[in-house]
Amino acid sequence: MLNNLKEQPKDKILGLMALYRADPRSTKLDLGVGVYKNDEGVTPVMRAVKAAERILVEEQTSKSYVGLAGDPAFAAVMSDLLLEKCVDRARMAAVATPGGTGAVRQAFELIKLANSDVRVFVSDPTWPNHVSILGYLGITVVNYRYFDTENRAVDFDGMMEDLADITAQDVILLHGCCHNPTGANLNLTQWQTLIDLINEKGCLPMIDIAYQGFGDGLDEDAAATRLVASSVPQLLIAASCSKNFGIYRERTGLLIAINENIGETSVTQGNMNHLNRQNFSFPPDHGARIVTKILTDDAMKADWIAELEEMRLDMLTLRQGLADELQRLSGSNRFGFIAEHRGMFSQIGTTPDKVEKLRVEHAIYMVGDGRLNIAGLNANSVRVLAEAIIEAGI
Ligand code: LMR
Repeated sequence: MLNNLKEQPKDKILGLMALYRADPRSTKLDLGVGVYKNDEGVTPVMRAVKAAERILVEEQTSKSYVGLAGDPAFAAVMSDLLLEKCVDRARMAAVATPGGTGAVRQAFELIKLANSDVRVFVSDPTWPNHVSILGYLGITVVNYRYFDTENRAVDFDGMMEDLADITAQDVILLHGCCHNPTGANLNLTQWQTLIDLINEKGCLPMIDIAYQGFGDGLDEDAAATRLVASSVPQLLIAASCSKNFGIYRERTGLLIAINENIGETSVTQGNMNHLNRQNFSFPPDHGARIVTKILTDDAMKADWIAELEEMRLDMLTLRQGLADELQRLSGSNRFGFIAEHRGMFSQIGTTPDKVEKLRVEHAIYMVGDGRLNIAGLNANSVRVLAEAIIEAGI
């Protein structure tokens, strides 16, 4: 039986992680997978996370099962963090999931249950795993233009043109902030235009938000999600705690489904619980409990916000430093977009062979589509990268 199995296509991001680990060069630089690293190249356990874990060790009296949807307190604190009470809680169904990927997967399964012929419109480009999971589930993917590769900003006209034939049977997948992989984001005026289109067409919006607090600030990064949530009848939100709480391996995520009418919430909730049961039964609890502890304790929450802000400002400084260094070396402002983009990533506009050249000749690892993880840099490696980019003729 097992000899019928065929090789699966390699995941671009995870394949790169493996190559990086196997590279013996001491100067190697990992700008691949989206993980925050401090100046020493370490992905730290955040102070508030450590404090919450200590309390949990002391206080927790049982590791017995929670519910299929996870701890309701986690859903409550996370929906407040994301939505700040802009939607009546009674319209919301929510389940904890194994990470943001789990929330995305459960959302896709939910829409497939609702409409087996659903088409999901995704930005071109998007996080490769969106397309991979949709393909695995046999859901039709339709690309909409998103990124203008000339000026390295959002191609909003192209996006709106490509969404013109979306219907009430379709889903539009959006990145709440810090677009992965481009780093280019819609402004709030563009979001409003998009909301008008969503309401005119009657399609279901789904927001994947994995980087709240990494772009312009915790509230600023949630502004678009809040605007959509308060303007449309139905919405799915897949949220991740991996990056902004730095609890990657704890697999902590939440799927929220906002219903049009309060009366529909319990059926939606039942379907979401059912999907959790089919896929893994009970969602992981440890990370969710850490997040709940932090967000319900004023001192821990303030410390978490302060540390997250340090990380965000660090990424902005690195962005500016890289843009400045590239301007100095190239004598042009063609890399100015790096300082304008937000979040962990920028797509720098190059070819796979030049990305490969950077890897082979300079031990610099970035995803083949030219996606660069800004948070993998530090004050010294900014110059090394800038020189290598110019040397590679990018
Ligand atoms: C990324 O895009 O690098 C992260 O979201 C990690 C992942 O799972 O791909």
